[in-house]
Amino acid sequence: SKSEPLKVMISGAPASGKGTQCEMIVKKFGLVHVSTGDLLRAEVAAGTEIGNKAKDYMNSGRLVPDEIVTAMVKARLMQKDAKENGWLLDGYPRSFAQAQSLEEMKIRPDIYIVLDVPDEILVDRCVGRRLDPVTGKIYHITYFPPENEEIKERLVKRPDDTEEKVKSRLQIYKQNAEAILSTYLDILKKIDGNRPKEAIFKEVESLLLCVKENEETEKL
Ligand code: AP5
Repeated sequence: SKSEPLKVMISGAPASGKGTQCEMIVKKFGLVHVSTGDLLRAEVAAGTEIGNKAKDYMNSGRLVPDEIVTAMVKARLMQKDAKENGWLLDGYPRSFAQAQSLEEMKIRPDIYIVLDVPDEILVDRCVGRRLDPVTGKIYHITYFPPENEEIKERLVKRPDDTEEKVKSRLQIYKQNAEAILSTYLDILKKIDGNRPKEAIFKEVESLLLCVKENEETEKL
């Protein structure tokens, strides 16, 4: 029989490497990646009503109001692909209220992964980050430069990736982190995120395989 699809949450400070690990997790496990940052950026780019509401909050590094983001996440997790293949939620919940909304909807992950990275590393990661608007792939001018000139020329910088805005995003993250963690203490896995991305992924991978195995054993 087919095992239950995996449900994973990944969290961590701005630029702790969530998006980077998610790319690798999706490749290996086929989960549906639901990134609230990516969803919101797509709404902004498309000039939708949600995008217009969210834009100023995002560009200044503040959180978008809960009701906007929660409705978006709920709708995405309800879709067939997420229900069938499992999901990987990245960037949500980001406040205690958001965590409570999921609890009320009985949406709970199998595992809650936190990427732990020292503050002084985060600024450098953000300021050097570049995105490929064509593939969505995440680069860094020093750590993960683009593969060729063609990609290099089309890379874009996020408007919230300045030193000043990273610092305020980090502060907001810290204000909320503990209250969110309290909701997921029983499934919490903290990982050292200040290592090469392949080494981090090895640990993530073995954690996820472990969760899968446990679920299969429980079914017997
Ligand atoms: P969001 O897009 O979620 O931003 P974030 O949480 O600040 O996270 P980042 O995307 O900055 O970083 P990441 O951890 O994914 O790191 P990455 O892999 O790219 O949210 C943006 C905004 O949207 C928010 O500020 C808010 O306004 C709004 N929003 C989103 N969700 C919301 C919610 N739930 N409620 C309200 N508002 C919401 O890596 C970063 C860089 O480091 C890259 O250049 C990468 O190449 C490099 N890197 C990655 N891993 C490594 C490594 N191991 N070693 C060296 N470099 C690495």
